[in-house]
Amino acid sequence: MFITFEGGEGSGKTTIIAKLKETLEQKGISVVTTREPGGSSIAEQIREVLLNNKNTDLKPHTEALLFAASRAQHLDEVIIPNLDKVILCDRYIDSSFAYQAYGRDLGMDFVKKVNDYALCYMPDLTFYIDLDHEVGLARVSKSRSHKKDRLDSEQTIFHDKVRSGYLELAKTEKRYKVINGNQDVESIYNEILNVILERL
Ligand code: TYD
Repeated sequence: MFITFEGGEGSGKTTIIAKLKETLEQKGISVVTTREPGGSSIAEQIREVLLNNKNTDLKPHTEALLFAASRAQHLDEVIIPNLDKVILCDRYIDSSFAYQAYGRDLGMDFVKKVNDYALCYMPDLTFYIDLDHEVGLARVSKSRSHKKDRLDSEQTIFHDKVRSGYLELAKTEKRYKVINGNQDVESIYNEILNVILERL
């Protein structure tokens, strides 16, 4: 079962994925956790280029291609070899739909075209933790360890486009579950865990 998690800063995704892994493993289920961009050594090197704050000149088409390149490597090295397990992946192709197709205005056709390979390996279930960008930002800025990357530093208008992109996608994709991100992390976790256990 291939499960992906989408949602911006302050949505608690990382904590929730770690907790889910622990709980599912206690039930004897084999779980692999991973993330995008990254998840394998080469894909993590591409991540470094994508998120580096110095790369202010990175163009939207190049950005979309690099996310797709990182994804292709990650698919071959991590996702495909583990499809017999439960895979919990922090972001996947829907991030490219929301951030590049909607946020950067590249459109779905272009993003689908460059992600042709990944379209053959779509998630069974996708959780979108929906939270207003400003609210999420206020949550993480309390934590001293939080450093903004190149995409976090985008204007509110960009993040609003990303959010409406996700909500638009959720309307048409049956695999989507939209979770209210205004709840505390524990409640979000419980809601997600229940959906996964039902499906398993
Ligand atoms: P990361 O620190 O992993 O994000 P977060 O903690 O917010 O989940 O950074 C990944 C950033 O890359 C995030 O801003 C979303 C963006 N992104 C895209 O724009 N397109 C993509 O295809 C992916 C996978 C991520």
